[in-house]
Amino acid sequence: AAISSIVKELDKLLLVDAISSLGSVDLPVDKWRCDVTVTASQKGWMVPPGLAMVSVSKEAWQAHAKAKMPRFNWDFARAQKYLEIGQTPWTPAVSIVFALSVALDMMLREGLSNIFARHARVGDAAREGVKSLGFSLFADEKYASNTVTAVSVKDGLNVREMLRILREEYQIVLAGGQQSLQGKIFRIGHLGLITEQDIEEIISALNEVLPRVST
Ligand SMILES: Cc1ncc(COP(=O)(O)O)c(C=O)c1O
Repeated sequence: AAISSIVKELDKLLLVDAISSLGSVDLPVDKWRCDVTVTASQKGWMVPPGLAMVSVSKEAWQAHAKAKMPRFNWDFARAQKYLEIGQTPWTPAVSIVFALSVALDMMLREGLSNIFARHARVGDAAREGVKSLGFSLFADEKYASNTVTAVSVKDGLNVREMLRILREEYQIVLAGGQQSLQGKIFRIGHLGLITEQDIEEIISALNEVLPRVST
Protein backbone atom coordinates (compact mmCIF):
# COMPACT_ATOMS: atom_id res chain seq x y z
CA ALA A 1 0.00 0.00 0.00
CA ALA A 2 2.89 2.38 0.77
CA ILE A 3 4.41 1.68 -2.63
CA SER A 4 1.13 2.07 -4.51
CA SER A 5 0.42 5.48 -2.95
CA ILE A 6 3.73 6.79 -4.36
CA VAL A 7 3.06 5.13 -7.71
CA LYS A 8 -0.43 6.67 -7.84
CA GLU A 9 0.85 10.13 -6.87
CA LEU A 10 3.07 9.93 -9.94
CA ASP A 11 0.08 8.82 -12.01
CA LYS A 12 1.73 5.53 -12.94
CA LEU A 13 0.57 1.94 -12.85
CA LEU A 14 1.80 -0.61 -10.34
CA LEU A 15 2.72 -3.92 -11.94
CA VAL A 16 3.34 -6.72 -9.46
CA ASP A 17 5.34 -9.87 -10.06
CA ALA A 18 3.40 -12.20 -7.79
CA ILE A 19 4.45 -15.34 -9.64
CA SER A 20 5.57 -17.13 -6.51
CA SER A 21 3.64 -15.27 -3.80
CA LEU A 22 -0.02 -15.09 -4.79
CA GLY A 23 -2.01 -17.89 -3.20
CA SER A 24 0.72 -18.52 -0.60
CA VAL A 25 1.21 -15.09 0.96
CA ASP A 26 -1.51 -12.53 1.54
CA LEU A 27 -1.65 -10.04 -1.32
CA PRO A 28 -4.90 -8.02 -1.32
CA VAL A 29 -4.53 -6.64 -4.84
CA ASP A 30 -7.49 -4.25 -4.73
CA LYS A 31 -6.76 -2.88 -1.25
CA TRP A 32 -3.09 -2.31 -2.14
CA ARG A 33 -4.12 -0.86 -5.50
CA CYS A 34 -2.02 -3.20 -7.61
CA ASP A 35 -2.87 -2.51 -11.25
CA VAL A 36 -1.59 -5.64 -12.94
CA THR A 37 -0.68 -8.66 -10.84
CA VAL A 38 0.66 -11.82 -12.41
CA THR A 39 0.97 -15.30 -10.97
CA ALA A 40 1.67 -18.69 -12.51
CA SER A 41 0.27 -22.17 -12.08
CA GLN A 42 3.51 -23.90 -11.09
CA LYS A 43 3.97 -22.05 -7.79
CA GLY A 44 1.58 -21.92 -4.84
CA TRP A 45 -1.22 -23.24 -7.06
CA MET A 46 0.47 -26.65 -6.96
CA VAL A 47 0.05 -27.65 -10.61
CA PRO A 48 2.51 -27.91 -13.52
CA PRO A 49 3.68 -24.82 -15.44
CA GLY A 50 1.56 -23.67 -18.35
CA LEU A 51 -0.93 -21.09 -17.08
CA ALA A 52 -0.44 -17.49 -16.06
CA MET A 53 -3.21 -15.74 -14.14
CA VAL A 54 -3.50 -11.96 -14.26
CA SER A 55 -5.63 -9.38 -12.46
CA VAL A 56 -6.17 -6.02 -14.15
CA SER A 57 -7.42 -2.86 -12.36
CA LYS A 58 -9.77 -0.25 -13.80
CA GLU A 59 -6.83 2.14 -14.33
CA ALA A 60 -4.89 -0.59 -16.12
CA TRP A 61 -7.85 -1.22 -18.43
CA GLN A 62 -7.96 2.51 -19.20
CA ALA A 63 -4.23 2.49 -19.97
CA HIS A 64 -4.74 -0.59 -22.11
CA ALA A 65 -7.40 1.19 -24.15
CA LYS A 66 -5.00 4.04 -24.88
CA ALA A 67 -1.83 1.97 -25.32
CA LYS A 68 -0.21 2.05 -28.73
CA MET A 69 2.11 -0.89 -28.27
CA PRO A 70 1.22 -3.58 -30.81
CA ARG A 71 -0.33 -6.64 -29.20
CA PHE A 72 -1.89 -9.80 -30.48
CA ASN A 73 -1.30 -12.97 -28.50
CA TRP A 74 -1.26 -11.17 -25.14
CA ASP A 75 -4.14 -8.83 -25.89
CA PHE A 76 -6.03 -8.44 -22.60
CA ALA A 77 -9.14 -7.07 -24.38
CA ARG A 78 -9.31 -10.11 -26.59
CA ALA A 79 -8.89 -12.39 -23.53
CA GLN A 80 -11.67 -10.54 -21.71
CA LYS A 81 -14.02 -10.73 -24.69
CA TYR A 82 -13.61 -14.49 -24.85
CA LEU A 83 -13.93 -14.80 -21.07
CA GLU A 84 -17.46 -13.43 -21.36
CA ILE A 85 -18.41 -16.53 -23.36
CA GLY A 86 -16.36 -18.85 -21.13
CA GLN A 87 -13.55 -19.30 -23.63
CA THR A 88 -9.97 -18.21 -24.26
CA PRO A 89 -8.75 -16.67 -27.54
CA TRP A 90 -6.32 -19.52 -28.10
CA THR A 91 -6.13 -23.13 -26.97
CA PRO A 92 -5.02 -23.04 -23.33
CA ALA A 93 -3.14 -25.78 -21.47
CA VAL A 94 -6.43 -27.60 -20.86
CA SER A 95 -4.96 -30.37 -18.71
CA ILE A 96 -3.62 -27.72 -16.34
CA VAL A 97 -6.97 -25.99 -16.14
CA PHE A 98 -8.46 -29.29 -14.90
CA ALA A 99 -5.59 -29.76 -12.45
CA LEU A 100 -6.01 -26.19 -11.23
CA SER A 101 -9.68 -26.79 -10.62
CA VAL A 102 -8.77 -29.65 -8.24
CA ALA A 103 -6.08 -27.52 -6.58
CA LEU A 104 -8.52 -24.64 -6.07
CA ASP A 105 -11.00 -27.02 -4.40
CA MET A 106 -8.21 -28.11 -2.03
CA MET A 107 -7.35 -24.47 -1.33
CA LEU A 108 -10.98 -23.57 -0.65
CA ARG A 109 -11.25 -26.49 1.76
CA GLU A 110 -8.12 -25.41 3.64
CA GLY A 111 -9.10 -21.73 3.59
CA LEU A 112 -6.89 -18.85 2.51
CA SER A 113 -6.02 -17.66 6.01
CA ASN A 114 -4.99 -21.22 7.00
CA ILE A 115 -2.86 -21.47 3.85
CA PHE A 116 -1.07 -18.20 4.62
CA ALA A 117 -0.55 -19.28 8.25
CA ARG A 118 0.85 -22.65 7.13
CA HIS A 119 3.30 -20.93 4.76
CA ALA A 120 4.39 -18.64 7.61
CA ARG A 121 4.99 -21.64 9.91
CA VAL A 122 6.79 -23.59 7.19
CA GLY A 123 8.94 -20.55 6.30
CA ASP A 124 9.89 -20.13 9.96
CA ALA A 125 10.69 -23.83 10.27
CA ALA A 126 12.93 -23.68 7.17
CA ARG A 127 14.83 -20.63 8.44
CA GLU A 128 15.23 -21.99 11.96
CA GLY A 129 16.19 -25.41 10.59
CA VAL A 130 19.04 -24.21 8.40
CA LYS A 131 20.29 -21.90 11.15
CA SER A 132 20.35 -24.86 13.54
CA LEU A 133 22.72 -26.57 11.08
CA GLY A 134 25.09 -23.59 11.28
CA PHE A 135 24.09 -21.93 8.01
CA SER A 136 23.25 -18.28 7.65
CA LEU A 137 20.38 -16.89 5.60
CA PHE A 138 21.18 -15.12 2.35
CA ALA A 139 18.44 -12.49 2.73
CA ASP A 140 17.88 -10.15 5.63
CA GLU A 141 15.44 -12.03 7.84
CA LYS A 142 13.23 -8.94 8.13
CA TYR A 143 12.29 -9.46 4.47
CA ALA A 144 12.42 -13.25 4.43
CA SER A 145 10.04 -14.96 2.05
CA ASN A 146 7.62 -17.58 3.30
CA THR A 147 7.80 -19.36 -0.06
CA VAL A 148 11.54 -19.89 -0.54
CA THR A 149 14.65 -19.81 1.66
CA ALA A 150 18.03 -18.99 0.16
CA VAL A 151 20.88 -20.29 2.31
CA SER A 152 24.44 -18.94 2.22
CA VAL A 153 27.13 -21.56 1.93
CA LYS A 154 30.63 -21.35 3.40
CA ASP A 155 33.72 -22.20 1.35
CA GLY A 156 34.53 -25.88 1.47
CA LEU A 157 31.00 -27.12 0.96
CA ASN A 158 30.40 -28.85 -2.35
CA VAL A 159 26.86 -27.63 -3.14
CA ARG A 160 26.54 -29.49 -6.41
CA GLU A 161 27.43 -32.81 -4.75
CA MET A 162 25.13 -32.08 -1.82
CA LEU A 163 22.19 -31.44 -4.18
CA ARG A 164 23.00 -34.63 -6.12
CA ILE A 165 23.03 -36.81 -2.98
CA LEU A 166 19.82 -35.27 -1.69
CA ARG A 167 18.15 -35.86 -5.05
CA GLU A 168 19.40 -39.39 -5.67
CA GLU A 169 19.47 -40.86 -2.17
CA TYR A 170 16.75 -38.89 -0.40
CA GLN A 171 14.44 -37.91 -3.30
CA ILE A 172 14.67 -34.32 -2.10
CA VAL A 173 15.12 -31.72 -4.81
CA LEU A 174 16.64 -28.42 -3.68
CA ALA A 175 17.95 -25.74 -6.03
CA GLY A 176 21.40 -24.22 -6.31
CA GLY A 177 22.17 -20.55 -6.93
CA GLN A 178 21.96 -19.00 -10.36
CA GLN A 179 24.66 -17.09 -12.26
CA SER A 180 26.99 -15.27 -9.86
CA LEU A 181 25.42 -17.08 -6.90
CA GLN A 182 26.20 -20.54 -8.23
CA GLY A 183 28.03 -22.51 -5.52
CA LYS A 184 27.42 -19.70 -2.99
CA ILE A 185 23.82 -20.43 -2.01
CA PHE A 186 21.24 -23.15 -2.22
CA ARG A 187 17.48 -22.70 -2.10
CA ILE A 188 14.65 -24.57 -0.41
CA GLY A 189 11.31 -23.98 -2.10
CA HIS A 190 8.45 -24.24 0.39
CA LEU A 191 5.22 -23.24 -1.25
CA GLY A 192 2.06 -25.04 -2.20
CA LEU A 193 1.64 -28.58 -0.95
CA ILE A 194 4.20 -28.49 1.84
CA THR A 195 4.10 -29.06 5.57
CA GLU A 196 6.38 -28.62 8.57
CA GLN A 197 7.07 -32.36 8.40
CA ASP A 198 8.54 -31.94 4.90
CA ILE A 199 10.88 -29.28 6.28
CA GLU A 200 11.88 -31.56 9.17
CA GLU A 201 12.77 -34.26 6.63
CA ILE A 202 14.83 -31.82 4.56
CA ILE A 203 16.74 -30.57 7.60
CA SER A 204 17.41 -34.08 8.84
CA ALA A 205 18.62 -35.17 5.37
CA LEU A 206 20.89 -32.11 5.17
CA ASN A 207 22.26 -32.96 8.60
CA GLU A 208 23.22 -36.44 7.37
CA VAL A 209 24.66 -35.29 4.04
CA LEU A 210 26.70 -32.30 5.23
CA PRO A 211 29.67 -34.25 6.68
CA ARG A 212 30.00 -36.08 3.34
CA VAL A 213 30.29 -32.91 1.27
CA SER A 214 32.32 -30.62 3.54
CA THR A 215 36.11 -30.30 3.50
C1 LIG B 1 9.03 -13.83 -8.32
C2 LIG B 1 9.22 -14.60 -9.61
N1 LIG B 1 9.10 -13.97 -10.77
C3 LIG B 1 9.25 -14.60 -11.95
C4 LIG B 1 9.56 -15.95 -11.99
C5 LIG B 1 9.72 -16.60 -13.32
O1 LIG B 1 8.56 -17.31 -13.63
P1 LIG B 1 8.50 -18.21 -14.95
O2 LIG B 1 9.59 -19.22 -14.79
O3 LIG B 1 7.11 -18.79 -14.95
O4 LIG B 1 8.75 -17.30 -16.10
C6 LIG B 1 9.69 -16.66 -10.82
C7 LIG B 1 10.03 -18.09 -10.84
O5 LIG B 1 10.62 -18.61 -9.92
C8 LIG B 1 9.52 -15.97 -9.58
O6 LIG B 1 9.63 -16.64 -8.41
